[in-house]
Order: sequence, then C-alpha cells, then structure tokens
Amino acid sequence: MSPQSRNEDMERAGALLPPGLALRWYDRLDSTNTLALNAPHLPAGTIIAADSQSAGRGRLGRAWHSPPGLNLYFSLVLCPSLPRQHWGGFSLAAGVGAARGLAELSLQPRLKWPNDVLLEGEKLAGILLESGNGRLTVGVGVNVNQEDFPPDLRATSLRRATGRSWRRDLVLAALAGQIWHWCRLWQEGEFERVIGAWRRYDVILGRCVTVLRGGEAIEGVAVDVGADGALVVEDCDGIRHVLHSGEVTLKK
Ligand code: BTN
Repeated sequence: MSPQSRNEDMERAGALLPPGLALRWYDRLDSTNTLALNAPHLPAGTIIAADSQSAGRGRLGRAWHSPPGLNLYFSLVLCPSLPRQHWGGFSLAAGVGAARGLAELSLQPRLKWPNDVLLEGEKLAGILLESGNGRLTVGVGVNVNQEDFPPDLRATSLRRATGRSWRRDLVLAALAGQIWHWCRLWQEGEFERVIGAWRRYDVILGRCVTVLRGGEAIEGVAVDVGADGALVVEDCDGIRHVLHSGEVTLKK
C-alpha cells in the first residue's frame, strides 16, 4: 500500500457523504461498474468504490488503467423512473455534478462532450454510464495523485495540475455528492437547468470539431447539446447531425 493510501481512511469516507449516499469500499475489483450493475439489492445512492481495478473500462471499449493507492474509481447506482428516452441525459447531469464537485474544491474544470472532465485542457476524469437490471450506473474515474501518464493520453491529475497531493476521501465526497444532486435534478425533470449548467462548463459549443463515430468522421460546428444528451453538429452544407456517441476532436 502506498503512503498516500495509508494517510486516508477510505473505508470511513462514507461518513463524509451527504444523506442518501452509502459507500461500499473494496481494495480491488474487476470493475466498480460491473459490481454496481450486477450485485443484487443495491438501492439508488449506493457508491461502489475500489482502490484498484483489474479490468476497469472506459468509453468506446477502451481499458481504464486503475493502479492502487493513487486515484478514484467509483460507481454510483441510480434506479431512474424516467422513461428510457431521458436516460442519456444523466450523462450530462453526471458531468455537471463532477464539474461542480471540483469547483467546490476551488478548481476550474471544463467539460468536453460526452463527459470528459478537463483541467487546464487535459483530461482529469472520465465518466462511463452503463445500464442493466433496471439500473443505471455512473462510473467515474478521477486522476488524483498519479504523476505520470503516457503523453498521447493528454491526461492530468489533481496532483499534476496543482503541485500537491490530495486526500481521495475528500475528493470522493465532493464529486459523489454533487453528481448525486445533479442526477436527482435530472430525475425530477429539471432538464433545462441541467443543460444550462452543462453549457456553462462546455468547451466545444460554437467551435469547429471532428467527431469520429464508427468509421465515419463528421466535421462541422458543435451547435447544441440536446435534452437527450446528444451533440448536434452542423456541417458545411448546413446539415445537422445528432450524435449520441463518438470521439470529439477540437479543430485548431
Ligand atoms: C472514459 O473513457 O473516459 C470513461 C472512464 C470511466 C472509468 C470509470 S473508473 C470507475 C468505473 N468502473 C469502470 O470500469 N469504469 C468506470
């Protein structure tokens, strides 16, 4: 166990969470999302978190490298009663919650569709929503005290961005509390409020982007984010593409 993880008592981090949230902490899991989706009788508000993951997964089938003692890997269980067409918007709500949680820690995050959390233009955290068994799980990976990343990842951590180490229990409490809050607003139908908050953190709206989706590249201006969480890109012929998934690159 690293010195960093000895300084924190992650098993007791649940005491820092707001009412409605309950933490289950594990030393090692294959993926917190897998357990959150499959464990029986998990109520909404359960947070499954692990010190490391052996098969952490990211968007688009990628792996999420999850070494021990450094970062945060957690999944928040939701049991939405909204019709399925609105489930995609929980992705925006989770992104806003992550950004607000970081702002509570005096940081200045931005969001890149669909839900990358950026600090100083580099990726600090990623969010992976998955559904199954009538549940939705919001999986969150946050780079906290990791110092080195492969250069092609364009990733950062709280430590790299601020020059000091961070207590993971405090970061978890801030982010999970705000993600829960914003997801509940979405569940209550406060769609415009959530989307309005997203737009204030967004880095791509109004800018020229390339979106890779499957084998296709769509180029145009990112003009909107819809209530279903979709990105709307208008190409040079004025055709609007409504995108529910894809990888966005900002053009210079
Ligand atoms: C992304 O590709 O940006 C999303 C990364 C999501 C990683 C988190 S870590 C906790 C949860 N469990 C997983 O296996 N993945 C998510």
